[in-house]
Amino acid sequence: MAGVTSGSASGASPSAFPTPIVALDVPTMRDAQSLVDRVGPRADFYKVGLQLFTREGPAVVEWLIAQSKRVFLDLKLHDIPNTVRGATQSAAALGVDLVTVHAIGGEAMQRAAVEGAGGPGARTGVLAVTVLTSFDDVGYAAAVGSTAETTHGAVLRFAGRAVECGARGVVCAGAEAAAVRAAYGDALGTLVPGIRMPGGDAHDQSRVVTPAVARGIGATWVILGRAVTSAADPARAYADIVAELGG
Ligand code: C5P
Repeated sequence: MAGVTSGSASGASPSAFPTPIVALDVPTMRDAQSLVDRVGPRADFYKVGLQLFTREGPAVVEWLIAQSKRVFLDLKLHDIPNTVRGATQSAAALGVDLVTVHAIGGEAMQRAAVEGAGGPGARTGVLAVTVLTSFDDVGYAAAVGSTAETTHGAVLRFAGRAVECGARGVVCAGAEAAAVRAAYGDALGTLVPGIRMPGGDAHDQSRVVTPAVARGIGATWVILGRAVTSAADPARAYADIVAELGG
């Protein structure tokens, strides 16, 4: 199994190297199926996000699971606790391994999310999105109406609440993942997007890390987006990145 040498594949238990998840950032089921085909059989963990899920719904998740793929359902839920509990219950019933909620939804909401997913040790883990990587300190201060906290400080604060609420991990930039790991160790996984091979095109990401750096900082999962999906040969790009990750 790519990316995992010990412990639960979807859990935050220590792995020797990060588990790669390929982002299905495409509009339709047909596009998703074609991309899975092009990435090839080595990739066994896929992210379904808002674009694809809004159009295709649970059918795309069911199709992936029928192909023996694991699913990260990245819906970034943020609502009242009761509603989020119901949504993570539905995600767990679909059989996804990971589902995201916004940490800024608060502790009651995160606890409800974990409960709905089946509890802290359940198959379906809840990841808390800390600070969106599209925010810099100025944009974040404007959004929360205070300059009292940097994005870095906020990520660490949210990570602390996420641990207390039973989340399996947090989504954060590579720059913060090292600090989260130093603070919480194996109690909280880190999912890091923005992975690029050395010298690769950063596209619109302002903070990218190489696979080797992601491994060095102890990331639990990495999201492989355009570095794989826009490559001329996605299977080759996936294999190259997995090799760099240490797989
Ligand atoms: O590697 P690339 O830039 O193409 O990655 C884009 C993917 O990373 C998208 O699926 C996007 O939703 C995801 N992403 C994420 N968390 C962030 C930022 C981006 O999962 N904080």
